[in-house]
Amino acid sequence: MGEVVDVHTHYVPGGWPDLGWPDAPRLRVDSEREAMILLGDHEFRRIGSNCWDAGERLAEMDADGVDLQVVSPTPVFFSYERPAAEAIRVAKIFNDLALEVCTSERLIPFCQVPLQDPDAACAELDRCLASGHRGVEIGNHAGDRDLDDEGVVQFLKHCAAADVPVFVHPWDMAGGPRLDRWMAQWLVGMPAETHLSILAMILGGVFDRLPESLRICFAHGGGSFAFWLGRVENAWHRRPDLVGVSEHPPSHYLGRFAVDSVVFDQRALRLLVDTVGVDHVMLGSDYPYPLGESPVGSLIREATFLTDDDRAALLGGNALRFLGPPRRP
Ligand code: CO
Repeated sequence: MGEVVDVHTHYVPGGWPDLGWPDAPRLRVDSEREAMILLGDHEFRRIGSNCWDAGERLAEMDADGVDLQVVSPTPVFFSYERPAAEAIRVAKIFNDLALEVCTSERLIPFCQVPLQDPDAACAELDRCLASGHRGVEIGNHAGDRDLDDEGVVQFLKHCAAADVPVFVHPWDMAGGPRLDRWMAQWLVGMPAETHLSILAMILGGVFDRLPESLRICFAHGGGSFAFWLGRVENAWHRRPDLVGVSEHPPSHYLGRFAVDSVVFDQRALRLLVDTVGVDHVMLGSDYPYPLGESPVGSLIREATFLTDDDRAALLGGNALRFLGPPRRP
């Protein structure tokens, strides 16, 4: 069995400073082992020290048989809605602190960028690559700008040219009385957000414009996309006046992107493998958060429909290709 790589984990730096902005994400450290992420005065999420403590992460990886973790920011810190100068400052602090979390070669840092300012996003990515980051996590939209926004496409072109893997994570879901209950923003909003962003790349003609070399992965199994590809395909053929803006029908673009495996159900994993291809599904867990898979990798390890070679590809082989060779800062 080859290496096991978890492409979807998050961190929060324990040393996150209070920026003094009234509505900025803050960290209230309650003890050596616990902290609270605050949005203004609202308690957003209680987190444990495995968010920032490399030793704890490595011990839990050992327990679950995980060799490498891609360590990405926690999306609530993206700050795309803020003035660009503030988002640049947040990204710099966050990305530098990430290197203090990723003290082991088994922890692979992905940076965040101020996506609302494409030039600044490209510059911050370049700075991070030079300092030891291996890839970038982006939110699936910046306000009303989805992944087919010209500025976002400029950034993705930069990622392709720099040979940098991109991990797309849903965030900033729609709220309101119907969605602010039962974790509906996470259970309904997030899968829909990711589906919409894959459509933006397909129907918005982004894959037509980007080089095939771009390596891009969508979180949570690509959200609702795989289940509804047939509906999208039908719409592309039947309503070309409204939908058919990509050069090819949606299914043509399968193979251009990967998804992670954090779907919790063998039937869903099988649909993903059948739809996006066995080379484009990668172990992801959403560690260390409560909606993550635990033990990490159990869904893939228990999948009886996979051959041993396929299982090894999903557990790590595909991810090693996605990550590309190590960089030497
Ligand atoms: Co996540």
